[in-house]
Amino acid sequence: MSTLFDPIKIGDIALSNRIVMAPLTRNRAVEGNKPGPLTVEYYRQRATAGLIIAEASPISPMAQGYLDTPGIWSAEQVDAWKAVTAAVHAEGGKIVLQLWHVGRISHTSLLPDGAAPVSSTDRVAEAATFTKEGFIPVSKPRALRDDEIPGLIEDYRRAARNAIEAGFDGVEIHAANTYLIEQFLRDSVNDRSGPYGGSIENRARLLLDVVRAITGEIGAGRTGIRLSPMTTFTAPRDSNPQALYGYVVEQLAPFGLAYLHVIEGETGGTRTPDAPAFDYAALHRAFKGPWMVNNGYDRDLAMQTVASGQADLIAFGRPFISTPDLVRRLKEGAALNELRADKLYGGGAEGYTDYSTLA
Ligand code: PHB
Repeated sequence: MSTLFDPIKIGDIALSNRIVMAPLTRNRAVEGNKPGPLTVEYYRQRATAGLIIAEASPISPMAQGYLDTPGIWSAEQVDAWKAVTAAVHAEGGKIVLQLWHVGRISHTSLLPDGAAPVSSTDRVAEAATFTKEGFIPVSKPRALRDDEIPGLIEDYRRAARNAIEAGFDGVEIHAANTYLIEQFLRDSVNDRSGPYGGSIENRARLLLDVVRAITGEIGAGRTGIRLSPMTTFTAPRDSNPQALYGYVVEQLAPFGLAYLHVIEGETGGTRTPDAPAFDYAALHRAFKGPWMVNNGYDRDLAMQTVASGQADLIAFGRPFISTPDLVRRLKEGAALNELRADKLYGGGAEGYTDYSTLA
């Protein structure tokens, strides 16, 4: 029987425990969408996690949807990330980067030459994004043409190569939270015809093309993926989430990925028993590989979930923001720090690198 505190090897990556820092957008990037010195310190402080999944990072200038998020498309960004990965490795930690394309969740003021965001559709999302003017409604997108998809897949491949060059142990493909890949997956958003629209097979094609390109470039053992079958964040659910995500996971299984990371229920929501039913265990059985779960786990539930074999790894979001030494606190049953929710997005050290650790 395994515990939360036992080592585990996921693909090519050896972890010292099963406690994972979830990817968390903090909007502290410096000029050029680069992680700065504060970000180096932030991740260094949290390096006792078995694995850090560094925050969602745009794969190209068109992939950006929020102010001051750190990218992974330029040589300068690769260099800046090297300081982060070196700091985490010096503390004995492991770190992968979450590769992000926001799709239609963006604003023309954030995109090159004031371009419209791109998506599977030209229908605007009912959502807001964080810009220089604060939170404002997202812009109307332009539907990608089929002949633009190869270029998009190339952007993912290059971003994965950049991440490895920056010293990351691997990447996590962000296929969750109603961003670009999920805008293709779900029939609630994807209104295309042609090879990337219509049937489940067609709507899953972009994701599987991206997985093929990235695993071909850096290896499946360094590639993880994040899904959120029931999240409604900026779009309604698919008409049949069980069938859609069942197909996706069945197709992912043969790749031998490092892990599959699933957000259970509504992203950032509470673990409410009255949430619509979704059979996550069926996906776990179909995947067979390392299984990571996230959303509202506390110490007891995390320990019980790993001990019972329902999951191999537990990802914590907000607890890792407030409590840099979360692994030690969980081990000792110590209380966690209070989260300063007003300091989540943007700003400086306050609510970022100034949380206390146990003496
Ligand atoms: C956010 O900026 O609020 C955000 C970013 C990435 C996610 C979810 C939320 O996956």
